Amino acid sequence: YRNLRVALLGGGSVGAQVARLLLEQGPELANRVGATLELVGIAVRDVNAERTVDLPRELFTTNAEELILGADIVIELMGGIEPARSYILLAVSSGADVVTANKALLALHGPELFAAANQVGAQINYEAAVAGAIPIVRPLRESLAGDQVKRILGIVNGTTNFILDRMDTEGSSLKDALAEATALGYAEADPTADIGGFDAAQKAAILASLAFHTTVPLASVYREGITQVTPAQIESARKAGYVVKLLAICERVTDENGVDGVSARVYPAMVPRSHPLASVHGANNAVFVEAESAGSLMFYGAGAGGVETASAVLGDVVSIARRHVAGGPGVAASSYAELPVFDIGRVTTRY
Ligand code: NDP
Ligand code: HSE
Repeated sequence: YRNLRVALLGGGSVGAQVARLLLEQGPELANRVGATLELVGIAVRDVNAERTVDLPRELFTTNAEELILGADIVIELMGGIEPARSYILLAVSSGADVVTANKALLALHGPELFAAANQVGAQINYEAAVAGAIPIVRPLRESLAGDQVKRILGIVNGTTNFILDRMDTEGSSLKDALAEATALGYAEADPTADIGGFDAAQKAAILASLAFHTTVPLASVYREGITQVTPAQIESARKAGYVVKLLAICERVTDENGVDGVSARVYPAMVPRSHPLASVHGANNAVFVEAESAGSLMFYGAGAGGVETASAVLGDVVSIARRHVAGGPGVAASSYAELPVFDIGRVTTRY
């Protein structure tokens, strides 16, 4: 097998899980890709900090630049704008491809980063930047690229859904539920990003840009968070048959002069309890996509969480690694593992 050198920037909630999975599933991933994925190091701020996962100490470094310059694939899971932006620019200019989950960075500097990557033929994959484990970026960018998306509506922030759900079902306070979401690794490093609706607005900007093949600036996304939502409001919504959910809505719209455009907005809304979005509990997310030919599609699953998000990150890594091996757009280069197929007859499955 050819060896691909993978540099990881960040060893927090998501990064530590990505590192663990790369180390534990190395041989299986190598078989799937047709190349070994060698984790060459993990850049962090403090090499001695306690980690959520037991990882080899010698992998940790504070020298991110050195890691990047020796890598074929750079995974950015530090979060924030700087130095993440400079590191991604350094990675593409030095010939590496990039995987990132950093919606804050992409919503602000996506066009700059993609242009830099395009210039040198590098790839930036970011499936994990929107809705955690749910595949939504690639379906919009690839599967639906021949259709006309008319509307996207959904819950795209796990932390606020977790909080609103706890307030609704257990009568928790926003403060207590946020502390729980933080302990579970769902919240951003600064959770104001979650409860202020900034994170959902960043995701709405990314989704709208992908869906409508345009650039939707973050500043154009209308945003309200959940900080003003009170237990009394949640209670009266319940009595009226509604549940409060933080929604992101991206639509093609026509203004009063007949000019076609798009709109993206994030705000807490009253959702009827009979609506499928009302059944999205905990840190799960759900995204409805309405397209002209495909009709209505629904994407549902874990919207936050270290290991769940690591799944999306690794999917992006495998896709890039296959491209390295095949020299093409990421088709499988290797054979499938030979697994036996069992005839177990008609076994009742529990749904
Ligand atoms: P954490 O805050 O848990 O981890 C961040 C990691 O990056 C830490 O290991 C930290 O080092 C390191 N780091 C931060 N700044 C620097 C720096 N300047 N130089 C070197 N290392 C640095 O974040 P998460 O893992 O939760 O999130 C990572 C990214 O993934 C973010 O962009 C986030 O928005 C995104 N994301 C997160 C999800 C989640 O559920 N948590 C889901 C989807 C996306 P140290 O450990 O030493 O402090
Ligand atoms: N803080 C984010 C959320 C992480 O709660 O949705 C996933 O993007």
